[in-house]
Amino acid sequence: MKRKDFLSISDISGEDIRSLISDAVASKDKSWLSSLERKTLAILFEKPSLRTRVSFEMAMRQLGGETIYLSPAEVGLGKRESVPDVARVLSRYVDALAVRTFSHQTLETLAEYAAVPVINALSDLEHPCQALADLLTIYEKKRELKGLRLAFIGDGNNVAHSLLLAAALAGMNFRIASPAGYAVQERILSQAQDYAAASDAEIFCTEEPQLAVNGADIVYTDVWTSMGQEAEAEKRRKVFANFQVNDELMAFAKEDAILMHPLPAHRGEEVSETILDSLQSVVFDQAENRLHAQKAVLLRMLGGLDVPLTGLRWR
Ligand code: CP
Ligand code: NVA
Repeated sequence: MKRKDFLSISDISGEDIRSLISDAVASKDKSWLSSLERKTLAILFEKPSLRTRVSFEMAMRQLGGETIYLSPAEVGLGKRESVPDVARVLSRYVDALAVRTFSHQTLETLAEYAAVPVINALSDLEHPCQALADLLTIYEKKRELKGLRLAFIGDGNNVAHSLLLAAALAGMNFRIASPAGYAVQERILSQAQDYAAASDAEIFCTEEPQLAVNGADIVYTDVWTSMGQEAEAEKRRKVFANFQVNDELMAFAKEDAILMHPLPAHRGEEVSETILDSLQSVVFDQAENRLHAQKAVLLRMLGGLDVPLTGLRWR
């Protein structure tokens, strides 16, 4: 990995993605049980969570380590105490921090002042642990990544940013359909275009959901209103009204296309009940894979990687 922290998909390489996926697959058998004995991860969250918190807690437990959960009310990040001081103090007690923040800048500051690794557990800019679990899921369902076509329908948000960067590093073609004014950030797009040029992937941005979904192997969507944007929910429901993933839209994808969503889903908004509960939907395997992908990340970052790898074959 390129630095001590994992704040963005751009902190890792295409090779890192492949080896983390290999490690995650290997970590599904229980032979790694005590690799992180005596290690402690602090989980410091400014926003609610089900999957990320529980999967980090279970990942550490399965690897023999421990966690301490710090809720928003307890720490008062940047309010009760400055962000640099929180980073300095926690570094004296624990071996790594998994942090969920409103502002990505808070994560950058924590990482700058922490002596221990900081892992992005979701910020307004990125959700890299989600993207790793997503690529692991795609690999398991399709037995490859390179050359596949992924269609992202909806907001150019944190989940879209990390998935775009990860797809471009892995050589997957990425089409995103978002309403005008809700596209991915220019800086992320340009970074992804550089990765795509090297990995031979194509990136395509449109305002037409059908154009994005046409011939896709994977159809991916996320909420229209992310945590922290609740005041815009009503407006967003109108803007995104034509961006629901439902039977009609899914029919433009390949017959064996899969549906993905990071969850929590707003059923009947960005995704219809029928598609979310259909045989094409892999959202619960995807949620489970958060656990396995994070075990691979924790092993890499906390130095517990002294176990055999599966040695998956990549093309
Ligand atoms: N997908 C995801 O990060 O879920 P939580 O917000 O429940 O952690
Ligand atoms: N984009 C969503 C993802 C939740 C996992 C949010 O930030 O709320």
